[in-house]
Amino acid sequence: MTAGDVWEIIWVAALCAVAVGAAGLALAWAIRRRSLTWHVLVVAAVAALGSYAGALAIARLMFLSSHDLLVMTVVSSVSAVVGILVALVVGRTVGVWSSGLREQVRALGPGATPVVPGQVPRELRVLSAELAEAQQRLEESRLRALRLEESRRELVSWVSHDLRTPLAGLRAMAEALEDGIAADPSRFHRQIRADVDRMAAMVDDLFELSRIHAGVFQLTPETVDVGDLVSEAIAGADVLAEGRSVRIGGRIDVGLQVTADPAGLSRVVSNLLINAIRHTPADGTVEISARTVPAGIELSVSDGCGGLDPGDMERVFDLGWRGSSARTPSTDLAGQSAGLGLAIVKGIVEAHRGRVEVHNLSGAAGCRFLVTLPV
Ligand SMILES: Nc1ncnc2c1ncn2[C@@H]1O[C@H](COP(=O)(O)OP(=O)(O)OP(=O)(O)O)[C@@H](O)[C@H]1O
Ligand SMILES: [Mg+2]
Repeated sequence: MTAGDVWEIIWVAALCAVAVGAAGLALAWAIRRRSLTWHVLVVAAVAALGSYAGALAIARLMFLSSHDLLVMTVVSSVSAVVGILVALVVGRTVGVWSSGLREQVRALGPGATPVVPGQVPRELRVLSAELAEAQQRLEESRLRALRLEESRRELVSWVSHDLRTPLAGLRAMAEALEDGIAADPSRFHRQIRADVDRMAAMVDDLFELSRIHAGVFQLTPETVDVGDLVSEAIAGADVLAEGRSVRIGGRIDVGLQVTADPAGLSRVVSNLLINAIRHTPADGTVEISARTVPAGIELSVSDGCGGLDPGDMERVFDLGWRGSSARTPSTDLAGQSAGLGLAIVKGIVEAHRGRVEVHNLSGAAGCRFLVTLPV
């Protein structure tokens, strides 16, 4: 056989294979909605029919005798049967793998444990891992939503409790004044004033929070001198600190500036400062400091609260949380705390694309609230 003959055989075989392959592609397109098993069968059939067609054409060109053609046909038929059987098994297996994935998708939902099957091809394994991750994200956001819903419900009942109690007191005092039976009217007036101030502050906080949560909280950023802002916050908290014999110290880098909403930032600082003073025992110290860090500026407020429980650290920023689910704090903070301050701090800091976190100081002496803001 000459080299020319070999080339002729190659060309004829290639033409036959391409013709059968094209017919196979057309068939695969026609049955594209059918099961994957059919597609695998088409591939096996194209391979078998391609070699039949080639052998037949080459026999016509007299390169194969009728005997050789018969032998080749028998051999090809046997391997075609085996090929089709293998295709059936592979098709079935792919079907089983895809049912596994379907089951995984169906199981997506509350409480399901993500399962990534090991014995499947790489692509399906990747897809399955993605599904497992999506499931985990779904579960996390479900839990977050549940927690948020629960804290909102608690907040509504707590706030109504916190408003109802002073309102009942106000009514009693007003009635006593009206009937002229108040022994010390000026004390009643002072008490009424204090209660009204506290309720007004609480309603302001709730309004601010609802604006933050509704996304309509407007920032008016400008260059703020951190030292000045902290000094003002300290001046505002001085009376409280003196009343509790708490010293305020700390260190602010000279000339430290940040681009932020001045009113929002001063709210953040005074909320943290007031909390720190309230939770520091008499003769304790509250430290407030600010410095430049690679991410922007870092503001820290440390107190002598004796440290927070690890479980509470996650909850301090929750709306309405104030360290006692029974809402009946036993300390002298009763009546002063609504559990809104840190939720407001978090909302304002996040609106500035910053971060707020809390850590315990070493030796459980107290805790430190850290606010990081981009400059
Ligand atoms: N510096 C702190 N040290 C120890 N515990 C704190 C400190 N700041 C807050 N907490 C705890 O976190 C709870 C929530 O604080 P948050 O400021 O949100 O509310 P609040 O101070 O109770 O009330 P509000 O700020 O609305 O007057 C507090 O009740 C307290 O238990
Ligand atoms: Mg507070």
